[in-house]
Amino acid sequence: MTEFESLGIVGSGIMGSGIAETAIDSGHEVVILARTPQSAQSVLRSVQASLSKRVEKGHKASSQTEEDLSRLSVTTEIADLSNCDLVIETVVEDISVKSRIINDLDVVCKPSTVLASNTSTIPLIELAAKTKRPEKVCGIHFFNPAPVMKLVEIVRTLVVSDETIQRARRFALECGKEPVEVSDRAGFIVNALLFPYLNNAIKMLEMNVASKEGIDTAMRGGCGFPMGPFALLDLVGLDTALAILNSLHEEFGDPNYSPAPLLKRMVAAKMLGRKSRAGFYSYEN
Ligand code: 3HC
Repeated sequence: MTEFESLGIVGSGIMGSGIAETAIDSGHEVVILARTPQSAQSVLRSVQASLSKRVEKGHKASSQTEEDLSRLSVTTEIADLSNCDLVIETVVEDISVKSRIINDLDVVCKPSTVLASNTSTIPLIELAAKTKRPEKVCGIHFFNPAPVMKLVEIVRTLVVSDETIQRARRFALECGKEPVEVSDRAGFIVNALLFPYLNNAIKMLEMNVASKEGIDTAMRGGCGFPMGPFALLDLVGLDTALAILNSLHEEFGDPNYSPAPLLKRMVAAKMLGRKSRAGFYSYEN
């Protein structure tokens, strides 16, 4: 028995697919809600590909992968999430889109369903207020790549119940993660500390202090970070980084959060990082 027998995930992007992989790997039944049949098939393929890579590396038996995949389904109908015990939304970092989805989930899902958001910066209380079950709405924030990164931030609003928070913690532990509780402030812990650093790296590049390769090498070698700031920005997605900085700036008004002009221009040019195959670096696939 797992804390939440069946899990719904809304969104078929990097986070949706990574959280789905993590959850099936730890024995949960998962259904992913995608916007189109094409994106539904594509998220299925990306989970399959990631699991196959682990088989190739000898970390997983292929029979185990088949078993994992038998716990995963995809849909384009929100009604298919009605019986889920927990639903995590992982859609674009836009409050109007997230509000609409959380409201639709509140209408469709059974009364006991816990509704969670993987948002990095949007106030959870504003999403909770769109439902008739604010005590069952919290943040469950995974990090990219979700199957690898250990941390899950569990976000407590002013009105969420202790039971919901405890259940979210137990779910994260079942997924093999290390949950840390944090209150409902933009950026929570990690992004509030990480994004000024990433933003300042871009500003340093704009000032021609060093090349992007030089800055990345310096932060890997000098601080022991697994990736330098530009490689990490490309992994996170420059559109996501811009949305996070804008939210942090709006919440705290600190100039440190004001997005570097180069970041804004790159997003306008649709240079979004790995997902568009061009960001600070170029990617073959
Ligand atoms: N899915 C599944 N597994 C993955 C993966 C993915 N997308 N990417 C890497 N892995 C696995 C690999 O298979 C490998 O497993 P193994 O060691 O068991 O063989 C392991 O992770 C290490 O990967 P690699 O050998 O390919 O490469 P690295 O050792 O360079 O690790 C990395 C890659 C894990 C991405 C590492 O560079 C890293 O930890 N980078 C920092 C990532 C980070 O800081 N993430 C947080 C971003 S902020 C965020 O997510 C918040 C959000 O709100 C924006």
